[in-house]
Amino acid sequence: MCGIVGYVGPEACAPILLDGLRRLEYRGYDSAGLAVHGGAGSIDVRRAVGKLRNLEGALRERPLEGQVGIGHTRWATHGRPSEVNAHPHVAGGIAVVHNGIIENHLEVRRQLLEKGCEILSDTDTELVAHLVHLEVAQGKDIETAVRAVLNTIEGAYAIAVLSVDEPERIVVAKSASPLVIGLAEGETYCASDVPALLPYTRRMVFLEDEEMAVLEAGGARITTLKGEPVERAETQIDWSPVMAEKAGYKHFMLKEIFEQPRALEDTLRGRLDRQNGAIRGEEIGLAPEKAKAIDRVVLLACGTSHHAAMTGRYFIETMARIPTVVELASEFRGRGAVIGEGDLVIAVSQSGETLDTLMAAKEAKAGGATVLAIANVIGSAIPRMADAVFYTHAGPEIGVASTKCFTTQVVNLLMVAAWLGHQRGAMSDEALAELVEDLARMPQLVSDTLKGTRQLVANLARRYVDARDVLFLGRGLSFPIALEGALKLKEISYVHAEGYAAGEMKHGPIALIDSTVPVVVLAPKDSSYERSIGNLEEAKAREAMVIAIGTEGDEKAREVSHDLIEIPEVPEALTPFLTVLPLQLYAYYVADFKGTDVDQPRNLAKTVTVE
Ligand code: M6R
Repeated sequence: MCGIVGYVGPEACAPILLDGLRRLEYRGYDSAGLAVHGGAGSIDVRRAVGKLRNLEGALRERPLEGQVGIGHTRWATHGRPSEVNAHPHVAGGIAVVHNGIIENHLEVRRQLLEKGCEILSDTDTELVAHLVHLEVAQGKDIETAVRAVLNTIEGAYAIAVLSVDEPERIVVAKSASPLVIGLAEGETYCASDVPALLPYTRRMVFLEDEEMAVLEAGGARITTLKGEPVERAETQIDWSPVMAEKAGYKHFMLKEIFEQPRALEDTLRGRLDRQNGAIRGEEIGLAPEKAKAIDRVVLLACGTSHHAAMTGRYFIETMARIPTVVELASEFRGRGAVIGEGDLVIAVSQSGETLDTLMAAKEAKAGGATVLAIANVIGSAIPRMADAVFYTHAGPEIGVASTKCFTTQVVNLLMVAAWLGHQRGAMSDEALAELVEDLARMPQLVSDTLKGTRQLVANLARRYVDARDVLFLGRGLSFPIALEGALKLKEISYVHAEGYAAGEMKHGPIALIDSTVPVVVLAPKDSSYERSIGNLEEAKAREAMVIAIGTEGDEKAREVSHDLIEIPEVPEALTPFLTVLPLQLYAYYVADFKGTDVDQPRNLAKTVTVE
């Protein structure tokens, strides 16, 4: 998730572009840059690593003059944050900014190198600049050149392109990543998102997938990628700038909960080979020989990432049949844990900077283990020290409570497990192909579940807002989800909550239950279903207020609970992606009704870099 912005008009564009990027910084902030038509047949570029203020500094030293330009604030997906990887990327008089992921980038890079192109960065975006340049070099205008290139690349993109030969226009296009065009008298803008443009205009046109537009000072002309003209009505936006940054949601956490279908789609992008029913192993970064040589997997993480790691253990044991343990990174460190060359250590961390996870992974590496990082922030400390990295592509997570990063970590762990299982012969071709298809439809199921459960969950949160204690129970894959439900509620609403393995209830915690305690039981139709129904009955018999999270149309679960939150019927491996959603929403609404600081709860930091 990056932010792009563009301007064509009579004003000096650099301050407008910078202002737009400042309003898009929530989309990414590891580097930034501008490209401006400088007159006299030149495009001038300034780029800087780090926050936008570094780019502002570079512009103070060497200002950019001109009225037509594009800008970018980056959240790295290909290539670590560095000046050479920062956008805009330039090739032979073509400058490009891009938000998204080009799936066939490896193949395109190889073809360009064969043609003798000099590729300077590790990004997929620079490849687009070279491809457009090659088309322009054959005599095509910029619009035709961009159209020809977009018909050959696969993946997600929102791009804005300048050509040194056509200084009065910007060409933009989109597929899967967002792009909005802003219209004003004698001025035309584009941006990844509405907030960047609100100080300048409220007249917006939203580009749809597989569409492109030519922006000039007098307006925008939209066509499909096939070249057919498109008539699109303007939308008048009434949001305040603060609402717009959160896409109309009250808090970043709620926005991020609802971003999960997109985050999952981006994380799966380019990793599923649906034609061959396979997982693309090169994305994981482990050699097939390594997959076969592993004796044991050790998962290391903290907090929500630890709960994701617990689902990973389940996947790896069932799909790859490798002995697996999950460790809290803080407990693994320094205790002299037995670790060796046969161990694959998977360090799971959204930030990639959590000190306990970093130190534990370093200790494991020193002991001879191979370290695979699953992280969301490109180039962060854990990926840097790891032997291999498999990134989640959730985009920046601003709410302290992790939501979209949790589900994307779980999907990466599921892909790792299936890939290992297939490499080792523990998972059949048919089972893998079936899982690949299930994964491909999962983002839509997540979207349906969020829409389908939101109102009921908000009502339940209102009803139980004053409960002092809440219990969450789950078995198997639902156990880490129960822990996650309890952690979410604790951290943002400050309500005491406990997650338990449902089978442990009778060994003590059942004594906590009385008529004042809401008990949430995860009871999807999986291999533990009958026993989970038993837990619902036990809780109801002790007069608890019982909420079941179960499969659509499950009358038995409805009968033995006070309220049933229904999720679509899915294969067992997919249940965590759906059961966790009402729990995230429940925590959110309880906190919102209590009026706590949802996005920045007391005593917590987004990244914990202390012991
Ligand atoms: O960046 P990490 O994934 O390593 O962070 C680990 C925990 O600090 C984090 O998951 C924390 O528990 C969240 N606030 C939970 O919502």
